[in-house]
Amino acid sequence: MSDLAALERETLAAIDAANDESALEAARVAAFGKKGAISALLATLGKLSPDERKAHGAAINALKDKVAQALAAQRSVLKNAALEAQLKRETVDVTLPVRLVGIETGRIHPISQVMDEIVAIFADMGFSVAEGPDIETDDYNFTKLNFPPGHPAREMHDTFFLAPDADGERKLLRTHTSPVQVRTMLKQKPPIRIICPGRTYRRDADQTHTPMFHQVEGLVVDDRATLANLKWVLEEFCKAFFEVPHVGMRFRPSYFPFTSPSLEVDIQCRRSGGEIRFGEGDDWLEILGCGMVHPNVLSNCGIDPEDYQGFAWGMGLDRVAMLKYGLPDLRDFFDADLRWINHYGFKPLDIPTLAGGLSG
Ligand code: DAH
Repeated sequence: MSDLAALERETLAAIDAANDESALEAARVAAFGKKGAISALLATLGKLSPDERKAHGAAINALKDKVAQALAAQRSVLKNAALEAQLKRETVDVTLPVRLVGIETGRIHPISQVMDEIVAIFADMGFSVAEGPDIETDDYNFTKLNFPPGHPAREMHDTFFLAPDADGERKLLRTHTSPVQVRTMLKQKPPIRIICPGRTYRRDADQTHTPMFHQVEGLVVDDRATLANLKWVLEEFCKAFFEVPHVGMRFRPSYFPFTSPSLEVDIQCRRSGGEIRFGEGDDWLEILGCGMVHPNVLSNCGIDPEDYQGFAWGMGLDRVAMLKYGLPDLRDFFDADLRWINHYGFKPLDIPTLAGGLSG
């Protein structure tokens, strides 16, 4: 009997001390496993005489039940402790700010934003987007656009020329997006209504010039495209882009080899305290060049100027981005400074649309 009491004490102590699943399992095996102490006792019962079985059986079975209960109790203690620990580990402090997922922490560069805004505005007027390569031929960048060889206007562009290739042809980094007009007219019959946003290059660097910059070109060719249509398109664009109901515009005579007549466009603004407001004030700001496509350009691109006429414009994208969003130095655009992009960048899910608002 005293053996049983000692076994009970030892077994219950081991169960009580088991503070994880494997210690508890070891205690169970020590009691009820194939070679377990209580299993051994139970096995002896069959060999006892009926009297001895009466005397010991009840005590052994009572021990078996007690140990089984202790195992179950300890198992549920461990289970509860594990649940408690998990709850503690996974506690959520709902008063903390929400951690943003990747797509919401990134920022859209103002250039990309402005490009998307401009595409949204012109898409609404039925324009499609055309693109061309950054490395151009002299023919598409100049000659087909009515810059005669040796013409001084070629010098105006401060061109980056590449080393001549095997055939002696000297390619260049396009100095404007106008060669995309040429590419489009060569492969598409009128009516044509395109805008061409893209990178352009000139040897120039100061607060408002960088060697790589961006332009958006526009081109319409049709049998009845007129200067009046051009003015309407540009006015609608300016109102939508600067998000004002009216904008004063001034068209001044100018010169580009690829347009005739050629014009430069200023928009009305007010500057005060380092701020610019559009659609009011007595100041004027030049924003783009435009004109009627020169007949030589149409015929250079396989379109008969007797049947068709067109208008075109070209605008500095970086410049209008600086104006609209009050960005003081163009060079910051290309410095890849995260502090700058976090301040001036746009939220990726605020996609510019005319219905939802351009600048969010
Ligand atoms: N290509 C001109 C430039 O870079 C801008 C320009 C002016 C484009 C008039 C045009 C235009 O299409 O009609 O200075």
